[in-house]
Amino acid sequence: MEILLKNPTFLLQILIYFHHFTLIFSRTPEFSILNCLKTQKITNFTLHPSSNHHSSVHYNHLLEFSLQNLRVSGDSTPKPTAIIIPETKEQLANSVLCCRRSSQEIRIRCGGHSYEGLSSIPRGSNPFVIIDLMNLNRVIVDLESETAWVEGGATLGELYAAIAAQSSYLGFPAGVGPTVGVSGHFAGGGIGVLSRKYGLSADNVLDVGLIDAEGRDLGRAQMGEEVFWALRGGGGGNWGVVYGWKVQLVHVPEKVTCFGVTKQGPIHELAQLIYKWQLVAPNLDDGLHISIYTTSTSTKVDLNVIEQDYIEMSWIESVLYFSGLPKGSTIHDLKSRYSSNKFYMKTKSDYVQDPISIEGVENLLEMAALEPKGLLLLDPYGGIMDRISDDSIAFPHRKGNLYNILYALFWKEEDDENRCLSWIRSIYENMTSFVSSNPRASYVNYVDLDLGTIDYTKNNNDIVEISKVWGKKYFLGNYDRLVRVKTFIDPQNVFSHQQGIFPLNVRTHDEF
Ligand SMILES: Cc1cc2nc3c(=O)[nH]c(=O)nc-3n(C[C@H](O)[C@H](O)[C@H](O)COP(=O)(O)OP(=O)(O)OC[C@H]3O[C@@H](n4cnc5c(N)ncnc54)[C@H](O)[C@@H]3O)c2cc1C
Ligand SMILES: *[C@@H]1O[C@H](CO)[C@@H](O)[C@H](O)[C@H]1NC(C)=O
Ligand SMILES: *[C@@H]1O[C@H](CO)[C@@H](O)[C@H](O)[C@H]1NC(C)=O
Repeated sequence: MEILLKNPTFLLQILIYFHHFTLIFSRTPEFSILNCLKTQKITNFTLHPSSNHHSSVHYNHLLEFSLQNLRVSGDSTPKPTAIIIPETKEQLANSVLCCRRSSQEIRIRCGGHSYEGLSSIPRGSNPFVIIDLMNLNRVIVDLESETAWVEGGATLGELYAAIAAQSSYLGFPAGVGPTVGVSGHFAGGGIGVLSRKYGLSADNVLDVGLIDAEGRDLGRAQMGEEVFWALRGGGGGNWGVVYGWKVQLVHVPEKVTCFGVTKQGPIHELAQLIYKWQLVAPNLDDGLHISIYTTSTSTKVDLNVIEQDYIEMSWIESVLYFSGLPKGSTIHDLKSRYSSNKFYMKTKSDYVQDPISIEGVENLLEMAALEPKGLLLLDPYGGIMDRISDDSIAFPHRKGNLYNILYALFWKEEDDENRCLSWIRSIYENMTSFVSSNPRASYVNYVDLDLGTIDYTKNNNDIVEISKVWGKKYFLGNYDRLVRVKTFIDPQNVFSHQQGIFPLNVRTHDEF
């Protein structure tokens, strides 16, 4: 200290030297992350081809592997500086720290099924890194406690297959797509055919391992009940990286009965069926789940099923039956993570609280008929969903909801994106008076950027207020509590996306 004060030129030299160094670093973000990863002995990663360290073939393969929405795969979509594939919890924590040290935004990817591709794109123009959890996909089933420990990168198919390998009487309530990741899914709730009986996936989570923004490894006891509450339904990508989930498995009978019936007919007849379905399906015994799936050429409904339509099978066979995998697929196929048939996609969602009038249903079907690639999925609520309180976990859509509507559109390159988007937006607009209002509720796992986004090029001093617009739609009365949890667990907003939950006292231009 004394020496420096007596020798100011020396101090000056040091400063210049340092300044020079930082300039070199900031010109090549790949260089700085590469060094950090090497130091931490993280070997499975690939850098952007412009770094000349890795081939573009390898990079593109890893980028596309779990990227499920082609809308975010084009040349105009910003590409990550690096894709890191940690293989242990320690590597995961160090990956987070390396990204922070080299000023990279962090994207966490599990199954990559975010309907807006949020796990693969940056929120603005900052450089970013994808931490892809595909190698953290172990599932350990404990028959004695009837629980499973599921690593944060596993898929639903891997979870289902691991349970079935050990038991024919245990199952787990979660969604139907086998390549959907457990982490995005559980973080947003996770609804499936067992949900009227056993609730959401998130209702059956017992513990969570979370890597926070400081790279700390927190279990339920360390993170506290408020954070644990937020992790169950408060949406993926907001809190930290979930390294693993401990879940309660549920009892399934030896045989379950499934049916899928296709009804075709004039709109006014199908509207009668759907009109009746909404009065019946949410009030059936908890053990019955009957959803409606419509495309403009066919409508699958349950009413008037005849005996031959029923097929008895084991629970795991029913998982395969609903999985969308080709006929003849086996339990082993549930574990395949790659979907080769990729689409451009857009979804929106609604909650229905009062039965829609027959005219309203006709309206819906008429609008649906305008787009051959459009589809609607009507999922009944009720059952145990009515008996779990709105704030038991962060997912809020409980008693009073008859069903959820998913509006979806999957298209290919040759289709006209503008036509597709305008169809789905107008059907949503058209349904306004028939669905929930003040706020018009949405399901966060059917994430929809039309509800609003943060513009990162601007100063957003009132960011918490701006994000209330979508926050209230996804989380209703739980939104304010989620903001408090966010402020506690991630005050610097390290984990975020276009439609995040933001901490109090952070402005977007202050980040990093
Ligand atoms: C074919 C298909 C079928 C579906 N079926 C159903 C269904 O039956 N029921 C239902 O409820 N939903 C369903 N969904 C919606 C699905 O639940 C959501 O898209 C879910 O968020 C996908 O999770 P993911 O891990 O695959 O996605 P990702 O894109 O990997 O992640 C989604 C979000 O979670 C974050 N995230 C991922 N991993 C972690 C982690 N380890 N820690 C913290 N944040 C993380 C991501 O950053 C991103 O913001 C379906 C979606 C598709 C495409
Ligand atoms: C990295 O992980 C991927 C996915 O499991 C695997 O295909 C690849 O071989 C691994 N690469 C290295 C260098 O370990
Ligand atoms: C909704 O669609 C129906 C049928 O296509 C149409 O008659 C009606 O005017 C539309 N309503 C709105 C609000 O757009």
